Amino acid sequence: MALITKKPRGTEDVLPRDSYRWQFLEDIFRKEAKTYGYREIRTPVFEHTELFERGVGDTTDVVQKEMYTFTTKGGDSITLRPEGTAGAARALLEHGLFNDPLPIKNYYLTSCYRYEKPQAGRMREFHQFGMECYGTNNPAADAEMITAAKAIFDRLQIRDLRLEINSIGCPACRAEYHKALKEYFSAYRDELCDDCRDRLERNPMRLLDCKVAHDHQIAEGAPTVLDYLCDECREHFDGVKAYLDANGVAYTVNPKIVRGLDYYTKTVFEFISGDIGAQSTVCGGGRYDGLLEELGGNAMPALGFALGIERLLMLLEAQGVRIPEPETCGIFIASMGDKAHRAASALTTALRSAGIQAEFDVVGRGLRAQMKYADKLNAKYSVVLGDNEIEQGSAKLKNMRTGEQHDISLDIDAFIEEFVRLDIDTLLTPVLEEADGAITE
Ligand code: HAM
Repeated sequence: MALITKKPRGTEDVLPRDSYRWQFLEDIFRKEAKTYGYREIRTPVFEHTELFERGVGDTTDVVQKEMYTFTTKGGDSITLRPEGTAGAARALLEHGLFNDPLPIKNYYLTSCYRYEKPQAGRMREFHQFGMECYGTNNPAADAEMITAAKAIFDRLQIRDLRLEINSIGCPACRAEYHKALKEYFSAYRDELCDDCRDRLERNPMRLLDCKVAHDHQIAEGAPTVLDYLCDECREHFDGVKAYLDANGVAYTVNPKIVRGLDYYTKTVFEFISGDIGAQSTVCGGGRYDGLLEELGGNAMPALGFALGIERLLMLLEAQGVRIPEPETCGIFIASMGDKAHRAASALTTALRSAGIQAEFDVVGRGLRAQMKYADKLNAKYSVVLGDNEIEQGSAKLKNMRTGEQHDISLDIDAFIEEFVRLDIDTLLTPVLEEADGAITE
């Protein structure tokens, strides 16, 4: 029978055989966020459309072309979040989190939705890990944010990731810069795409990240923002660089980085890899000192970043960073006959409540098929229960990797005690400990 439908273009299923890779990364993100004093925030997958129009900016590609927007039965305009920053900021304002001691440090793991042309590393549903910090102007915070992102890449032993930074100034210095851009691009007005002709009037910086090839080429020769920074922004940028230097974080200043979202001010940065093709930005972020006010709150400086989990997985794969596969079965309790099968069921339950990954046959297989299945599960140990074993109250515990056998009592407490003594590793360790380090091949 034909399938009713397939997954929509630009989406991916994460299959059980691969989900450990996601879990491993998620554990690293959470652990690193906790180390930096961040707590998780979870916001809805959809928000009122105007949040993104005002927050992300209505002259950006994201808002103009890529949003999944629909009208509800109640007549509201709703949009699936294209990114995590605006929703987190909305929640901060709505719940008065700005009253918390400063700085406020929130992180999130979210799915995002952008109607883009799918290609390697560019999806319509993708996932971000992001960190957002509110309530500080200090350049030390910018360097700390960048260092936090880098700490994750270092933890994963990723190599050759380029950190590029820039400052795109504040509204004061940007006025001058906008003037210069308008002057520059006006000479090419007839060659620009329709969107860019409109942006030229409303928001000339957006011409710098237009994806249309010819516009992109024209943008190459545009004046760079660093030449227009006011004293305060210049000093701030110098401060960020000094703190990065102090932390031993290597970077290059790329005055062409402007980011594709409107809320940025001052520092912007990207981590870029040469190993994953055209969609090479694994992580992007920066300061957005005007966003909270733009959303109707009191002014409060803020900054953050988000990294794309799919791109990060591509990068790990490309660099041969092997994510340790979790054990699926510590011990398989095989059995023959009804009585032994019930004993196997009870023993499995007892082992599981002691935190041991135990399995027994729930399919109705014969003994040989059970052992074959135990092999497929890659069980570390097995034990076979039959009438004799039940009668004697003991069985043979076999180490499936070495072939070694031990007599083991079938008294449940004694069994567990002996098993744990033999194989302390089989006890489920807290996942974060397991996730401690990736192994590079
Ligand atoms: P962004 O640069 O739009 O920034 O996205 C951040 C990261 O999400 C990108 O570097 C990329 O890894 C991933 N990403 C973006 N679009 C796609 C896509 N279509 N498919 C796969 N991955 C994608 C933001 O979203 C900002 N909210 C970051 C931020 C947080 N700035 C301050 N705080």
